[in-house]
Amino acid sequence: AIERTFSIIKPDATKRNLTGKIVAKFEDAGLRIVASKRIRMSKEQAEGFYAVHSERPFFGELVEFMMSEPVVVQVLEGENAIAKNREVMGATNPAEAAEGTIRKEFALSIGENSVHGSDAPETAAEEIKFFFADEEIVG
Ligand code: CMP
Repeated sequence: AIERTFSIIKPDATKRNLTGKIVAKFEDAGLRIVASKRIRMSKEQAEGFYAVHSERPFFGELVEFMMSEPVVVQVLEGENAIAKNREVMGATNPAEAAEGTIRKEFALSIGENSVHGSDAPETAAEEIKFFFADEEIVG
């Protein structure tokens, strides 16, 4: 089925001027960028977006990192977009990411791992709503 998923190009990637190379990986995989904006995350946004991780030992570090440089938030659309995006991203830990994936090629560490992608249809819907109004998504 045609799905939508939510993506973030993270600070380590925008800082190294990798936005276009990452977008090319999405598009080459057949994902369409139907919404996109470059923002600087506020503390409220970073803490709210990652609220599910608030009890984790790395939470403070994660929030600071996501606020440290601009990010690019996007909605990706396509056949099985959620799984396809996860495949293109590779494993969370770049040391475990498969050849050719974004994290294998670009990520620096488990925290500075270049991209975020939704993990399921419910989280995709929530995450898209967190950053985008309906009229900002143009399919
Ligand atoms: P993301 O998909 O954005 O969702 C939660 C993030 O927490 C994850 O990617 C990682 O970047 C980050 N993360 C997970 N484990 C660790 C860790 N051990 N140390 C720092 N950051 C982590």
